[in-house]
Amino acid sequence: MPDLTATAIACPNIAFIKYWGNRDHRLRIPSTSSISMNLDGLFSRTTVTFGPDIVADQLILNGEVAQAAALHRTRALLDQVRTISGYYYSARVESENNFPTGTGIASSASGFAALAVAASRAIGLTLDEPALSRLARRASGSACRSVPGGFVEWQAGKDNEDSYAFSIAPAEHWGLVDCIAIISQAHKSTASQEGHLIADSSPLQAARVASSPVRLATCRLAILQRDFDSLAAVVELDSNLMHAVIMTSTPPLLYWLPATVQVIQSVIDWRKGGLPVCYTIDAGPNVHVLCPADYAEEVSARLVQTEGVKDVLSAHPGGPARWLPDEH
Ligand code: DP6
Repeated sequence: MPDLTATAIACPNIAFIKYWGNRDHRLRIPSTSSISMNLDGLFSRTTVTFGPDIVADQLILNGEVAQAAALHRTRALLDQVRTISGYYYSARVESENNFPTGTGIASSASGFAALAVAASRAIGLTLDEPALSRLARRASGSACRSVPGGFVEWQAGKDNEDSYAFSIAPAEHWGLVDCIAIISQAHKSTASQEGHLIADSSPLQAARVASSPVRLATCRLAILQRDFDSLAAVVELDSNLMHAVIMTSTPPLLYWLPATVQVIQSVIDWRKGGLPVCYTIDAGPNVHVLCPADYAEEVSARLVQTEGVKDVLSAHPGGPARWLPDEH
């Protein structure tokens, strides 16, 4: 009989090459492969308890009963581990983030990666990393990249089996820092899930998908060779392409605020002035400003001074999602 309870932690990740659009929405098989870096120091901590006395699945998120949509995704993941294990108990899931949710820092990525590890352990399964990554993927695509550690590639694949993420370099490989300029802490107006559904309605998406393997290869090589200039160029190009698709979908979406553009402009100016920095933006107004660790203090200080920036978080490359065996 398994313990029926387990706790796990996972970091969110920032995509260098973005996931936007699916070839199969139900299974979350993406239209393109993607690459990301885990963000150390930012964590989701998730405890799952299955039991015969629990009448229905429950999700407590940051101390509050979660909305129906989050419970629905959680239940789908729990259903997968129930099917594999043969134990059909309901579960209580408690999850906490130490960073603000819904701001473009992907809390769903860390949350579902931690859930995949905790739920499978609680129900007595010992899944390998690709299996955990697939499990997390079906709840939230980017969550599959928070299962392995460091710098991570999600190979798009063609079906459930070959669509999962793996580490291309460990966290210690490269001292990059993500200085996150927080511009708004409000919940984002349109969930990424809805954006993925309409990505193909943009006339630019086909060109973005067709040209993505080149950017993927360039980014992978830049990471392996610790080549910041090459990384900066491809990261900004890929982010701009994703937002071009977002802005030209039907209906069109716009995640940027005036201060988002202000930070983009500043980063470009700082780079012209000799500072090694680049920007990338997920589905929200906040700007992730990447730089080598030696420059992180300077970059954070400049971001704090920038109009419209409310706060600056900074994160080094983070490790894999992990089970905390001593905590129940
Ligand atoms: C802009 O993984 O949040 O952050 O699968 O619907 O949960 P769902 O989408 P999600 O999409 C992430 C979009 C992105 C880019 C990225 O992380 O690659």
